[in-house]
Amino acid sequence: MQQNQKASITGIGSYLPSKILTNHDLEKMVDTSDDWIVQRTGIKERRIVENSMVTSDLAAQASLRAMEDAGVSPRDIDMIITSTITPDHFFPSTSCYIQQKIGAMRASAFDILAACAGFIYALSIAQSVVNSGAVKTILVVGAECLSKITDYTDRTTCVLFGDGAGAAIVQKSNTKHEIISTNLAADGSQADILIMPGGGARNPAALESIQQRLHYIQFKGKEVFKLAITNITNLILETVEKNGLKLSDIDLIIPHQSNLRIIEATMEKLGLPMEKAFVNIDKYGNTSSASVPIAIDEARREGRIRKGDMVMLVAFGGGLTWGSSLIRW
Ligand code: UT7
Repeated sequence: MQQNQKASITGIGSYLPSKILTNHDLEKMVDTSDDWIVQRTGIKERRIVENSMVTSDLAAQASLRAMEDAGVSPRDIDMIITSTITPDHFFPSTSCYIQQKIGAMRASAFDILAACAGFIYALSIAQSVVNSGAVKTILVVGAECLSKITDYTDRTTCVLFGDGAGAAIVQKSNTKHEIISTNLAADGSQADILIMPGGGARNPAALESIQQRLHYIQFKGKEVFKLAITNITNLILETVEKNGLKLSDIDLIIPHQSNLRIIEATMEKLGLPMEKAFVNIDKYGNTSSASVPIAIDEARREGRIRKGDMVMLVAFGGGLTWGSSLIRW
């Protein structure tokens, strides 16, 4: 019995701050309109943390919900892997703060960085480590306070991003949601098209880096947009083929929520109806690492996923990085 058990998602949880920033609020801050934002992105509002809150606060709340869902206690957790581009600090890791906040004092803890694809990267690591038998229970977190690195004077970026967190427990199981296959990819030749240039070794924090507004997200929107559609579409097709499936075997695609038009164009290229994609970007905007686990949690609470369904997680982001994960619910 034990031998047939595979790494599975045994619990899921999410947490969103209560403060809402609407498109109408943004109209008062930059030269934009609700109409433009809805038409070009599908976003109507996003959640924003209070100043005093940080990424590990959101992550801890999402983690406690995932732990409750899986029926695990803090002492059961062997490892914490967090994906974030907005860590509480460069170091120590945000996972260490989460460990302390949820009382998982037996767990090892580290962060990974693969931007918007980061939750799927972290899930892939957890899948391998759990399947290897090295540890039993891993907490995988995607959490972001993107509002802290968003330039609210730049209309081309500030309308897109929001804050939030999602978490999953990964354990061996033959009754829960098996992680059948994860597929990861990257293209460092395009590293500079989606970037926060300030604060690292190339542009350490300095008066000039602040004056040049380097500590905020910058991107070449159109280029990212096109590469996202091509790479996500190809990855979905590759994942399906690699697992001996057909596109019609996929019951629901849960994509990273970066732009409704990216999701629509991907579904059109695949020849799939929009009902097969889960969308909640209208409420939360782009929450980077957090978007996929938040979407999984909402999809199952809304009854969009039933036992036995084949669910495809897919994400694309800075790095460039992209990844997919096939889950049998
Ligand atoms: O998760 C990965 C991270 N995501 C991304 O990097 C985003 C990917 N890219 C996108 O989602 C889209 O490219 C955007 C939503 C960022 C932009 O949409 P677009 O259809 O590519 O618009 P655009 O950049 O071509 O801009 C069209 C026009 C421009 O005006 P002109 O030059 O035609 O006069 C912009 O200045 O819209 C203008 N514009 C705005 N107008 C009102 C740009 N941002 C805004 C705004 N409100 N917020």
